[in-house]
Amino acid sequence: MSTRISIAIDGPAAAGKSTVAKKLAEKLSYLYIDTGAMYRTLTYRALQEGIDLNDEHQLLNILKDTYIELKPSEHGQLVFMNGEDVTDVIRQADVTNSVSIVAKHQLVREEMVARQRAFAKNGGVVMDGRDIGTHVLPNAEVKIFLKASVEERAKRRHAENLARGFESDLEKLKEEIAYRDKLDSEREIAPLKKAEDAIEIDTTSLSIDDVVNKIMEIVSERI
Ligand code: CDP
Ligand code: CDP
Repeated sequence: MSTRISIAIDGPAAAGKSTVAKKLAEKLSYLYIDTGAMYRTLTYRALQEGIDLNDEHQLLNILKDTYIELKPSEHGQLVFMNGEDVTDVIRQADVTNSVSIVAKHQLVREEMVARQRAFAKNGGVVMDGRDIGTHVLPNAEVKIFLKASVEERAKRRHAENLARGFESDLEKLKEEIAYRDKLDSEREIAPLKKAEDAIEIDTTSLSIDDVVNKIMEIVSERI
C-alpha cells in the first residue's frame, strides 16, 4: 500500500492553487482542503451579521458557532456554513475585499488552524492556502509555492468572471489582487511566505496541466 502523504500548496491570489490542488487530489484520491474557503465563510457570516471585522473576539464567537464543511461533489468542491450551501456567495466581491482583514487576527487563525490540522490528521490531503507549508502542516512531505505575475493573475480572474457571466474591470482587479497580496504578506501572524523547503513554481506561462504534471513528478518521488 502506498503512503498517503500531505501536500501543502501556498501562493498569492489566482496563482492557480485551488485548480491545481483539486486536480492533484482527484488523481491521488486524496481529500482537497481549501483553507481560503474557510476564511471566506467566516467573512461572509461576519458581513451578514454586521460584525466589526477588526473585533477578533466577536469574530471568534461567531466562528465557534459556525460549522464549516468542505464536501467534494461532481460539480467541484461545495462549501457549507451550518448546513447552508455558500459555495458561490463566498466568492462575491464584498467577501473577497474583506477576507484579508478577518484573516489577520490571531484568535481566528488559531481556531481555523486547529480545524485544518484535524482535517489532515490521517494524511492523504492536498491543502491550499497561504500558511500551509510554513505553519499549518510544517511536516508536509511535499510543499509547493505557486506564483505568477500580477498581470497574469488579474487576467485569469477576469476570464473566470466572464465565464461566470459577469464583466469586471481588469485594472481594478489587478489593484485588488495586489492589495490583498500586500495585506496577506505583511500581516504579523502566519503571513503569506514560501516555506524554506517548498519548491517554487512560476505558473505565469504554464498551463494547468503543466503545473499538475510537474507536481505529480515531485509527489511520485516522495511516495
Ligand atoms: O482564491 P484566492 O486566492 O482569491 O483566495 P483564497 O485562497 O480563497 O483566500 C482568501 C483569503 O483568505 C486570502 O487572501 C487570505 O487573506 C486568507 N487566507 C489566509 O489568510 N490563510 C490561508 N491559509 C488561506 C486564506
Ligand atoms: O486558488 P488560486 O486563487 O491560487 O487560483 P485558482 O482559482 O486556482 O486559479 C485562478 C484561475 O486561473 C482559474 O480560472 C484557473 O483556471 C486559471 N489558471 C490558469 O489559467 N492557468 C494556470 N496555470 C492555473 C490557473
